[in-house]
Amino acid sequence: MNTHTELIHTLSPEETAAIEAQIAHLPDRQSAAIEALQIVQQARGWVSDESLKATARLLDMSPAALDSIATFYNLIFRQPVGRHVVMVCDSVSCYVMGGEALAGAVKTHLGIDMGETTADDRFTLLPIVCLGACDRAPLMMIDDQLVSGPELADLTNVFERFA
Ligand code: FES
Repeated sequence: MNTHTELIHTLSPEETAAIEAQIAHLPDRQSAAIEALQIVQQARGWVSDESLKATARLLDMSPAALDSIATFYNLIFRQPVGRHVVMVCDSVSCYVMGGEALAGAVKTHLGIDMGETTADDRFTLLPIVCLGACDRAPLMMIDDQLVSGPELADLTNVFERFA
């Protein structure tokens, strides 16, 4: 097996097919970078260095170029995360509306700091930039669900929804 084949084969046939389907709609392979990273992350929970290299190869781009996209796009995780990712917005609208207090309450509730994962591997807590829902500030997103307003008064109830 040559290096090219070996790298491509670290992605599953399903991942490769899903990425190729995205590429088919776009002017060039590199334009599918974010979609490709999302596909890999959905399958594996996060994007390891090896997965990143394999994805870059499939997109005909350098791992460094793809890594810079992955780093810029903060919903791509380059480190292992728990089963659910809790992201508390720390941008200005949320900050002035009590985002810091929300972050503190979430940290206390989960017993972890920003960037950490609970011992049971259930939740990873991360800060995130503006989620584009400033009218609901302060807020957090758990996986793909926004949580804000009166819901935040009962964090036990919020986190119980995520097994
Ligand atoms: S500042 Fe938090 S959603 Fe915009």
